[in-house]
Amino acid sequence: MRVTLKIKRFNPELEEKQHWEEYDVDVEPNDQLLDALNKVKWYEDGTLTYRRSCAHGICGSDAMVINGRNRLACKVLMKELGKKVTVEPIRGLPVIKDMVVDMEPFFAKYRAIKPYLINDNEPPAGRERYQSVEDRERFDDTTKCILCAACTTSCPSFWANGQYVGPAAIVQAHRFIFDSRDMALHERLEIMNDTMGVWRCRTVFNCVEACPRDINITKAIGDVKKAILEGGVGG
Ligand code: SF4
Ligand code: F3S
Ligand code: FES
Repeated sequence: MRVTLKIKRFNPELEEKQHWEEYDVDVEPNDQLLDALNKVKWYEDGTLTYRRSCAHGICGSDAMVINGRNRLACKVLMKELGKKVTVEPIRGLPVIKDMVVDMEPFFAKYRAIKPYLINDNEPPAGRERYQSVEDRERFDDTTKCILCAACTTSCPSFWANGQYVGPAAIVQAHRFIFDSRDMALHERLEIMNDTMGVWRCRTVFNCVEACPRDINITKAIGDVKKAILEGGVGG
């Protein structure tokens, strides 16, 4: 089938503002949008610029606004998109070129939540730290995050105030707050208990819609808020 890709382009060396360009390409219904973008880049216009790596929804590098919704280009099939497809960079982060945005503000927020296990105690002699199935289950959903930024860049609270830590960082914080092996619970809750932390979420729910891993982000945000109010994670 023949489709038109309407792509928002930007080259800072040549222009001051973004502009739209259209490309007609032949695709199979089961092609990914990423395949269609590759066709444009490889056969029509090599200057088209976008990040991609795994092509299987794992590396998180090709989040874009596709027909108005944040999605991964490698996880959406052409048959789902119709004959005219709009493609834009994710919103709320500075555009460097075409679909490539500056991810540094996003990763700065990720670093701020200390995304690593904190436990200075020695593990039991001769074995790792055990965890029950039930304890592991408490943060299973939030381990699935691939840091694609689709959630944070779909969030109106983040668009309104770039200081907001954003749903992706809260998901990552949840992953450690609810890990029974982690010893930094109160430090982590303190980081989240900030006007630019978890309380900046206005329960708009765009983030859940956007997540390509189907993480229940608003549940994670609710869990963290509850933990702050109760001063711990219970159980
Ligand atoms: Fe992407 Fe989902 Fe992680 Fe947000 S929570 S960064 S949308 S994988
Ligand atoms: Fe934003 Fe999601 Fe909250 S879209 S306001 S983080 S529910
Ligand atoms: Fe890796 Fe799409 S290219 S998630």
